[in-house]
Amino acid sequence: MFKHTMLAMGVLFAATSLCLAQQATLGKPEIKKEPIKQTSAASGKDMYTQYCAACHGAEGKGDGPAAPALKTAPTDLTQLTKTHGGKYPASMVAGTLKFGSGPRAHGSVDMPVWGPLFQSLDKYHDSVVQQRVSNIVNYIETLQAK
Ligand code: HEC
Repeated sequence: MFKHTMLAMGVLFAATSLCLAQQATLGKPEIKKEPIKQTSAASGKDMYTQYCAACHGAEGKGDGPAAPALKTAPTDLTQLTKTHGGKYPASMVAGTLKFGSGPRAHGSVDMPVWGPLFQSLDKYHDSVVQQRVSNIVNYIETLQAK
């Protein structure tokens, strides 16, 4: 049981932060929210790992440990360039981060709206929020399938 709890802690991640708790009896993953954790705004990779990988997968393929618990499958982020006519859609990704994706502009458990969360991390300093968004956007560009 203790071991099980540790395992669940291992995939604990930030969103509004969500955590995946493996239910011992049901064996079904369950998402739990927890407060967003501080990270360095300078590292797109660290932020991606902390905030995005649980759903989108360590390499962005949409296969993170929390993915099976979501209603909607997380987007395969490595295909963004391919699905956008060969050009990495940097401004779309930035917009999704700041304002949420598509009609779910107010966010959902499935894909959180990051702008307000990032604002809360940096005491509403817009330049830091901007830096976070652009470093994550740039990091995701490095994950694009060739
Ligand atoms: C709780 C799970 C979860 C987390 C955490 C998460 N996402 Fe998502 N994301 C999703 C799901 C599900 C979708 C597809 C449904 C949708 O677009 O709302 C998605 C869609 C996206 C899209 C595509 C939007 C579009 O319009 O095609 C991008 C880009 C994206 N996420 C980036 C990120 C980044 C960057 C992070 C980390 C800062 C992140 N996501 C964290 C679940 C998550």
